Amino acid sequence: MAILKIARMGHPVLSRRAEPIADPSAPEVLRLIEDMLETMFDAHGAGLAAPQVHVPMRLVIFHVPREDFGEDLPPRLRVLINPVIEPLGSEMEEDWEGCLSVPGLRGLVPRHLRIRYSGLAPDGSRIEEEAEAFHARVVQHECDHLEGILYPQRMTDLGKLVFQSEMHHHLESDEVRRDPEAEG
Ligand code: NI
Repeated sequence: MAILKIARMGHPVLSRRAEPIADPSAPEVLRLIEDMLETMFDAHGAGLAAPQVHVPMRLVIFHVPREDFGEDLPPRLRVLINPVIEPLGSEMEEDWEGCLSVPGLRGLVPRHLRIRYSGLAPDGSRIEEEAEAFHARVVQHECDHLEGILYPQRMTDLGKLVFQSEMHHHLESDEVRRDPEAEG
């Protein structure tokens, strides 16, 4: 296992389209997954996409909130290879995002409220799941990395791109935000 260097906004690997993975169970893919997990935990990230560690392949990892089991349990991990996203309905929701490749900043980003996503697990089995709210947001953020898109490119008001240390100016006092520290 190794902690990998995270590419930052401006590095070309973050703006190109990533390549599909032919064999999800290949040893080099499993090694990459192990290293990405260690890198994400080390950086306290909510998610990580392979291009963020300079590997242009279609692989993302993220924490899935346990919506079915209550908010108190720690989220479970998901590894998704060659993911596909389909919006469910047209409803959008705005919330704050951060990105390990855009350190120190937060932005207000509109995302589809509900999506269905699919892909392969490392054992080659098929994953298909519906998600909404924060879960759907994390998946959309990570999968955007595979298309060479960073969250500021999804923003509609760049006046809402702020330093994390100034973010409190933009939150309502009664607003409950899930894990505003999380970056993906
Ligand atoms: Ni990100």
